[in-house]
Amino acid sequence: MKIYRATDYKDLSCKAANIIRAQVIMKPDCILGLATGSSPVGTYEKLIEWHEKDDLDFSKVSSINLDEYRGLTPDNPQSYRYFMNTKLFDHINIDKSRTFVPNGLEPDSDKACKDYDEIIENSGGVDLQLLGLGHNGHIGFNEPADNFPCNTHCVDLAPSTIDANKRFFASEAEVPRQAYTMGIRSIMIAKKILVVVSGEDKASILQKVICGPVTPQVPASILQLHGDVTIVADEAALSKM
Ligand code: GLP
Repeated sequence: MKIYRATDYKDLSCKAANIIRAQVIMKPDCILGLATGSSPVGTYEKLIEWHEKDDLDFSKVSSINLDEYRGLTPDNPQSYRYFMNTKLFDHINIDKSRTFVPNGLEPDSDKACKDYDEIIENSGGVDLQLLGLGHNGHIGFNEPADNFPCNTHCVDLAPSTIDANKRFFASEAEVPRQAYTMGIRSIMIAKKILVVVSGEDKASILQKVICGPVTPQVPASILQLHGDVTIVADEAALSKM
């Protein structure tokens, strides 16, 4: 694992965006695995800035997102499709027909997951997977469990995740209780993985992810077994290292 220490969130976002920029320049038709949550927002802002100022070109890029709440429409402001459109896709020259997010509206969860695995399989493989980190160590919505789930699956969100994500909803009752998420195998087969972690509230879990045992109770700990992981974290998130 390579660990980059950023001074603050702005520095973190710039460092992470630089890694994505390098990927897009090196391979213009790359496949980016993308993430939601507050951690990557600054990274997306930087990419938009460079697209506007420096012609960073996304016209041949495809993207595959990690997860989506089950039951939310794409135009629901809390859905991850809406998040990706408004925080990134609407502001760069990516072809939206090549941006993929699980179909939260598919009521048949087996079908939703199988369809998404086919998209991942047919893509030929993610070149660079961007990840945030949940307070309980989740990546995507792979919550702490007794084993590492392989492929896309429907997950019951952990109470701590519902609690952490309620800030985006009018009330906790409105937070969906389930989501479709890429599995750990789908994440681990990406050629490169980039994790962005910010804030003192992530310091304990980040320490476990990097230094603790590899266990499905801390899903992100499996990243220790990947050959090309870069973690970009700010001082606060690295304060327990
Ligand atoms: C959600 C997403 C994750 C994300 C996590 C952390 O649960 N499903 O992909 O990494 O939130 O979010 P934040 O960056 O806001 O702490």
